[in-house]
Amino acid sequence: MLVDTYGRVATDLRVSLTDRCNLRCTYCMPEEGLRWLARPELLTDDEVVRLVRVAVTELGVTDVRFTGGEPLLRPGLAGIVERCAALLPRPRLSLTTNGIGLGRTAGALRAAGLDRVNVSLDTLRPDAFRALTRRDRHRDVLDGLAAARAAGLAPVKVNTVLMRGVNDDEAPDLLAWALAEGYELRFIEQMPLDAQHGWQRSDMVSAEEILAALRTRFALTAEGEPARGHAPAERWLVDGGPARVGVIASVTRPFCRACDRTRLTADGQVRNCLFAREESDLRGALRSGASDGEIAARWRAATRGKKAGSGLDDPAFLQPDRPMSAIGG
Ligand code: GTP
Ligand code: 5AD
Ligand code: SF4
Repeated sequence: MLVDTYGRVATDLRVSLTDRCNLRCTYCMPEEGLRWLARPELLTDDEVVRLVRVAVTELGVTDVRFTGGEPLLRPGLAGIVERCAALLPRPRLSLTTNGIGLGRTAGALRAAGLDRVNVSLDTLRPDAFRALTRRDRHRDVLDGLAAARAAGLAPVKVNTVLMRGVNDDEAPDLLAWALAEGYELRFIEQMPLDAQHGWQRSDMVSAEEILAALRTRFALTAEGEPARGHAPAERWLVDGGPARVGVIASVTRPFCRACDRTRLTADGQVRNCLFAREESDLRGALRSGASDGEIAARWRAATRGKKAGSGLDDPAFLQPDRPMSAIGG
């Protein structure tokens, strides 16, 4: 098991498969992109599957989510999913994606064993999408979402980050759209994880503001603490249910006390927290011939050092060196 000194057990592994992305969201990275990892630095497909196998068979991980950058850019994704789905005990497998390319791949990913997807979409307006992502791919995302739904990747969740003056007037429209389409919408508070280090608390649209905006058009009732469990989203029933909307209030209402996450970067470093400042090198261990037992021991040791929380409220808070796009969210 992966246990930290606060008694939390990490059973949910997030694996970043690439740091590259085909969008350039203004709140994430600059127009010119970032200095990407070089090919030899990336874990190979075999190395990814081996680390997931160690996590699942030796460390008690039950849920594996593939992230990026944009994980659909990884050529071997379907093969990785298929091999992870063959592990015993079989982990639940999910994907966090911007949705571009899902139109073509959702069926194959489902057939390979993927259980569900979370797709990022911040606006319903094609022009706002283009300004926000610096790419004209709004249609591809909508097609990707529809393909995921048709392929039975259920539930299909949509992740939305609201930004002041950009899309913060869209919350009720986004919810009406998600309800009509049958997607589970979650609004996310923006965290200081941008590559440009430009985040300011005052720019962030808070959970409180989001809920107030939604309440202008919908009745929301709390689903209650137990339903949140280990999930970062607090869920609300819309107009009495069964439809729901989620709010991921990582800044104003962090869920660190119930955190069950461990992370692997595309270059094989374990991060025990999204905001961790230290990493533990599993790729080096793999490539110097470490046994499964030795890798598991390293992962356990890396978990023990997990801090109580993100440290966001600490006046001395320092953003991690890796941006969101290279951690995997
Ligand atoms: P579900 O299992 O479907 O609820 O997935 P998820 O919400 O955990 O994952 P997803 O990749 O969709 O992430 C949604 C948002 O939650 C992103 O902004 C993530 O960065 C954020 N998030 C995910 N895990 C953590 C975490 O451990 N800590 C914090 N603070 N935020 C997280
Ligand atoms: N804070 C919160 N969420 C973010 N995302 C990207 N950067 C940030 C940030 N700084 C979102 C993406 C995607 C999800 C995985 O994380 O928009 O929906
Ligand atoms: Fe877990 Fe760190 Fe996220 Fe808090 S910020 S929920 S401790 S990963």
